[in-house]
Amino acid sequence: MDLDRQRHKARRQVASDNDARSAHDILRAETAAIHKRLHADATFSALLDGRLSRKDYESLMCGMYGFYRPLDEMICSAERDLISIPRTVTYQPRGPMLANDLSALGVDADLLASILTCQDLPDITSPADLTGVLYVVDGATRGGVLLNNCVSRLLGSQSTAGRTYWDWCRQSGGAHWRSTRQLINHFGRDKAAIEQMTLVANQTFSAFENWLAAVIEPDEAAMV
Ligand code: HEM
Repeated sequence: MDLDRQRHKARRQVASDNDARSAHDILRAETAAIHKRLHADATFSALLDGRLSRKDYESLMCGMYGFYRPLDEMICSAERDLISIPRTVTYQPRGPMLANDLSALGVDADLLASILTCQDLPDITSPADLTGVLYVVDGATRGGVLLNNCVSRLLGSQSTAGRTYWDWCRQSGGAHWRSTRQLINHFGRDKAAIEQMTLVANQTFSAFENWLAAVIEPDEAAMV
């Protein structure tokens, strides 16, 4: 076989490999770089390695609360307006769980009310947009199971006070993740929808990464 024909065959093979990948495979592959970057983030890596202080854990939870509070509202209203497919479970807002944890950590109601909220979030105007966002926030429960153990060690207690969000990831995150995967599969091989989901998933990851970088002081995530 001459070189041109070999190249042509190889290109066709790559194209058909892409066609063979499920929407979920594509989402996972196309967001892998930013997901990996989050693992290396100073706060998350300190939490994973058992080096995060309680004060920095509180900052992380404030940051997450400020991210999820507005996003919860957007997701809940989009779910009502855009999704007609029956779902086994619907989105569980994270804000109330995170507020509960902050209060257990000693953050009073006035401080909670003053926590800045993220305004730079992706637009959710189509079912594919919503699915891209749900991919990130429900997928995040998988890492949450691991982090739940780290937070339990950090807080030095078996009680879930201060970590009900992470414990919810462990107990209920799997059902939400399954439901979101079903939603993703519902798009089958619709290329335009998969491209849109991937775009919005990356925007959601970036919004989270940028938000945490803006609200958590770099030296706050230093070792204890
Ligand atoms: C140190 C922090 C984190 C760790 C250790 C971690 C770890 C993990 C692990 C172990 C999985 C399961 C992989 C599998 O079953 O194949 C996972 C999946 C996932 N995580 Fe993370 N994660 C972290 C942070 C995050 C954050 C902050 C987000 C989102 C904002 C996130 C989004 C996701 C998504 C979307 C998936 C699903 C990947 C797939 O398609 O299978 N993760 N993570």
